[in-house]
Amino acid sequence: MPYLSKAFLFCLAWCVFAPSGWAVEPTPARQTELRHLLKNDCGACHGLTLQGGMGPPLLPDTLKGKADALLITSILQGRKGTAMPPWQTFINTEEAAWLLDVLRNGKHGAE
Ligand code: HEC
Repeated sequence: MPYLSKAFLFCLAWCVFAPSGWAVEPTPARQTELRHLLKNDCGACHGLTLQGGMGPPLLPDTLKGKADALLITSILQGRKGTAMPPWQTFINTEEAAWLLDVLRNGKHGAE
């Protein structure tokens, strides 16, 4: 059954490559919510302009050289033993990655 196996291989390739190959961006409405969260919630500890407060600054320069995986995990799971709370009940992995991208590029608009 050549058709079936071709379809099967296609599905397999799709499953393997689609999640990593496609950057999933939050919808524009969700991006607005996330920017709000960044300013009001994250800003409460990291400073309104994210220059640092109770938490460290989240500026492009301070995040440079720190691995995505480490920072995304910190956002989703928080840092045990510190004031940094876990956010995974409010945002998913793609949203945390998007927020990190915003922070890395200094595009948070909180200045
Ligand atoms: C209640 C205070 C508080 C809130 C709210 C908070 N953070 Fe944090 N955050 C901290 C503290 C304190 C640390 C430093 C933890 C440590 O010492 O490792 C931290 C660390 C981090 C780090 C790691 C920074 C680095 O240089 O390693 C990231 C990224 C981060 N926070 C992002 C966020 C984001 C995004 C939000 C909002 C969704 C947020 N934080 C909300 C207190 C907070």
